[in-house]
Amino acid sequence: MEEQIVSVENASFSYGTNTVLDNVSLKINKGDFVGIIGHNGSAKSTLLKLMVGLLKPDKGTIKLFGTSVEKFKDYKKIGYISQNVRDFNQMFPATVEEVVSINLYHKRNLFTRFRNKDNEKIEKILEIVEMDKFKTSKIGNLSGGQKQRVFIARSLVNNPKILFMDEPLVGIDLESQNKFYDLLSKLNNEYNITLVMISHDVGVISKKVDKIFCLTDGKVYVHDKNNDVYINRLKDIYGEDVNMLFHKH
Ligand SMILES: Nc1ncnc2c1ncn2[C@@H]1O[C@H](COP(=O)(O)OP(=O)(O)OP(=O)(O)O)[C@@H](O)[C@H]1O
Ligand SMILES: [Mg+2]
Repeated sequence: MEEQIVSVENASFSYGTNTVLDNVSLKINKGDFVGIIGHNGSAKSTLLKLMVGLLKPDKGTIKLFGTSVEKFKDYKKIGYISQNVRDFNQMFPATVEEVVSINLYHKRNLFTRFRNKDNEKIEKILEIVEMDKFKTSKIGNLSGGQKQRVFIARSLVNNPKILFMDEPLVGIDLESQNKFYDLLSKLNNEYNITLVMISHDVGVISKKVDKIFCLTDGKVYVHDKNNDVYINRLKDIYGEDVNMLFHKH
């Protein structure tokens, strides 16, 4: 049986009286590359926050690695890059390597003899995201696409099993987007990291992922590449037109 990394069962969530997710169920298996799409305000970010335990459902259960999110403590297994990470202060005077090592500091104590090992690790991760040449560059001087790679690197230092990304491609040109997808498929295929990514670019993402969660009116519609020809033909049939997609349901 496939290993379930995330399971959401009959979950509902409201902000005050505004119900944004209504009795939603879905599963993410080990090795999946999941794309989440939907109009502005369709609760994509909310769903991601529920899955990483930043919000609690009003009803239903959400499990991470088989454990209810409320009890889940193994946060190293999870990487989460939020939607507002791009607001990262441009003037922040840190270098790429400092930003990437931020997540490691909590592990350090008086015994700093592990530092060399940490440095090696950071080096290796920067190679994976192809940012090793920028190790000593100031984060504020990088382009949007380069910065995204650094944020990916930062979330990789703890060897996560799953990476949640909230619109990582906003403001990134087409060529850099393609490179970014190459990086993601490397993480997915070579490093076996399960990926969950929100994107508005339905045409592109539908070609890259295994599953699409389509959010509309508080519901989630799942399209699976393995048993739904629709996902492969999405762009051929509908082009980039998101509205058409929603009318299909
Ligand atoms: N903290 C909050 N308090 C009250 N309402 C909120 C809060 N956060 C989000 N909402 C509302 O919940 C709904 C879903 O928001 P969410 O941010 O999850 O949507 P989204 O699909 O990520 O949108 P976008 O594509 O614009 O990022 C929206 O109507 C939003 O206004
Ligand atoms: Mg959002």
